Amino acid sequence: MAKDGIMDLIRLPQTEPSPGQPLERLLAQRRCERKYARRSVTLANATSLLWAAQGVSNADDLRTAPSAGALHPMEIYLAAGDVNELLPGIYRYLPIDGAIRSVAEGDRRAALAAGALGQAWLGDAALILIIAANYEHSTWKHGRRGIRYVHMEAGHVAQNVLLMAATLDLRAAVVGAFDDKRVASVTELAGDQTPLYLLPVGYPRN
Ligand SMILES: Cc1cc2nc3c(=O)[nH]c(=O)nc-3n(C[C@H](O)[C@H](O)[C@H](O)COP(=O)(O)O)c2cc1C
Repeated sequence: MAKDGIMDLIRLPQTEPSPGQPLERLLAQRRCERKYARRSVTLANATSLLWAAQGVSNADDLRTAPSAGALHPMEIYLAAGDVNELLPGIYRYLPIDGAIRSVAEGDRRAALAAGALGQAWLGDAALILIIAANYEHSTWKHGRRGIRYVHMEAGHVAQNVLLMAATLDLRAAVVGAFDDKRVASVTELAGDQTPLYLLPVGYPRN
């Protein structure tokens, strides 16, 4: 993994455009998977998933997912378990830097599964993306309506990840049933961030 001199900052590889499949096929293929194989995904795949979630896609730092007022309140964390070239742990995605920063060491998938009201299957996914938000980044401008916008944005982010997983021949799911405090604690979220969605990703068990 490429370290750039700053402690715990890991530069991500450039994402290559995927070979491409018709959108209709990806939409039809998308299904919430709850049985994962014990098989690693590559750092390149993890990078593509992070980029789909919140990557910078133009020169003005706009992202792959729309954001009300371009305020970008979403924060993406990666719980790596079986990701090649990455030690198990929690990493925060830094979209503008094209990098991740280590937040906590160790495999936290089982703890996230426990936090997700005992949905143990989550622990088998190679990785779990945690979509969190800082509501303040939207509500300072949009007021109470900003709360609604943040939830809409989480849906955009999740669907981007699901479609990216489908095009990479990976499987994924979305999980909203979890204990906020436990997931925030396991992910070591900053105090002003709220977890909204868990997205396990991996290869299907045959
Ligand atoms: C907001 C939301 C929360 C969800 N939470 C969970 C969950 O906690 N656990 C789970 O197994 N599936 C969860 N799902 C996935 C749904 O169960 C799934 O989308 C539904 O069964 C339809 O299947 P499909 O996604 O494969 O089309 C959630 C879906 C949404 C949209």
